[in-house]
Amino acid sequence: MTEYKNVLTEKKDNVLIVTIQREKALNALNDETVAELQQVFDAFSADADLRCAILTGAGPKAFVAGADITELSKLDVAGAVETAARGLKLAATIQNSPKPVIAAINGFALGGGCEIAMACDIRIASEKARLGQPEINLGIIPGYGGTQRLSRLVGRGKAMQMILGGDMINAAEAYRVGLVDEIYPPEELMDKAMEMATALAGKPPVAVTATKKAINDGLNMTLDDGCNLEKDIFSKLFATDDQTEGMAAFMERRKANFTGK
Ligand code: CAA
Repeated sequence: MTEYKNVLTEKKDNVLIVTIQREKALNALNDETVAELQQVFDAFSADADLRCAILTGAGPKAFVAGADITELSKLDVAGAVETAARGLKLAATIQNSPKPVIAAINGFALGGGCEIAMACDIRIASEKARLGQPEINLGIIPGYGGTQRLSRLVGRGKAMQMILGGDMINAAEAYRVGLVDEIYPPEELMDKAMEMATALAGKPPVAVTATKKAINDGLNMTLDDGCNLEKDIFSKLFATDDQTEGMAAFMERRKANFTGK
């Protein structure tokens, strides 16, 4: 597998574990790390052997403590446009990947870290995790999609409170407001992530991709348009081998053998 400076990738069967490794800066996303993550997730999306990814941060303290403030502090307006564009592209690549990506939030997920976690399909967090969009305290706003994804996930009022206030919330509060989907003791987090990833990796891949598309594209549509999109995607699955196999296996009381066709 390709070696990266700030990102470690490991394959376990058909699951890819992606660990951001800049522990001395609490895994803050400098340009180099964003570029490496872009390569990692482009390759993941294109690799037919991989069915699910887990994204996490190295060390006990942080998932990602944000974009790298040392680099941000040197930007002018044109530089900020480019930095935001690169972060937004990475977030879109994760969200639009044909396969699920689980964020395993092992500690601070702040600013760009919270934003990249929100681009993942499912977020599970350590009980010690703390999440937030503290950009306001730096005189800016989120730039990797935070104003948009946070308000869609937790609603307008809570997003306003978090982004205007700039305070962190703990894992229990993040779970309560729907920002994370499960919370676990820190020592169990990666096992639980692996368990979830393995289960998702065993699902029929075409239907998995279809689910992501229906939910993600539908969220940008009216309810009627979203339901029409669902009808299109639902009906096309009836031309797949996995639909025939899934239903035959149910009726024959056996485990389905999905081929991804
Ligand atoms: N960028 C660069 N370096 C960072 C960083 C960041 N986002 N977050 C932490 N670090 C560095 C610190 O500078 C420190 O480095 P040194 O040891 O060389 O001094 C090291 O990581 C450890 O951090 P602290 O000593 O601050 O650790 P702490 O436990 O006292 O505090 C923290 C932890 C509360 C997370 C604090 O580090 C912090 O507030 N970090 C910044 C969080 C933030 O504002 N994130 C948003 C960035 S802007 C953004 O992300 C914009 C966007 O939307 C794209």
